[in-house]
Amino acid sequence: MNLILIGFMGSGKTTVGKILSKQLNWKFVDTDEIIEQKVKMPIKKIFFLYGEYFFRRLERHILQNIDIKEPFILSTGGGMPCFKDNIDIMKKKGIVIYLKAPKSRLFKIDKKNRPLLKKAKILINKRKYCYQKADYIIENYKIDSCIKQLKQLVR
Ligand code: S3P
Repeated sequence: MNLILIGFMGSGKTTVGKILSKQLNWKFVDTDEIIEQKVKMPIKKIFFLYGEYFFRRLERHILQNIDIKEPFILSTGGGMPCFKDNIDIMKKKGIVIYLKAPKSRLFKIDKKNRPLLKKAKILINKRKYCYQKADYIIENYKIDSCIKQLKQLVR
């Protein structure tokens, strides 16, 4: 069984994924990290030099080719499930969990590597329909309770 975490920037995908993967002894994978390693530059620079479409195609390529033989938790970039039919590919690879965080959290997150954060209000509205296609929705107000719910799901 694999878990795929989706949700807007700052919804806690990486934080929750890392903690939970340690507790379950599962592998943790973060698509933003894979992209930065592959292209050898920070996300912000990739957007600046090559544009968003290039980044989305990279994300999709990584998703399509993910091939991990052990149970894993995949933390995805906030826009990944909303590009083409990525959400359907995700559902074939694992249980898709939408981490739904309060909007107020957005304004506290690190803007440095998130070039699309300035369009947050528009993007939240555009993406909510796609996020809602997840297999499960977990309100992530507190990391602890979110992890507890996820553990119950995989038990
Ligand atoms: C993006 C979210 C970022 C990163 C990129 C684009 C988005 O990931 O993939 O800046 O479109 O919402 P996080 O959701 O991990 O911040």
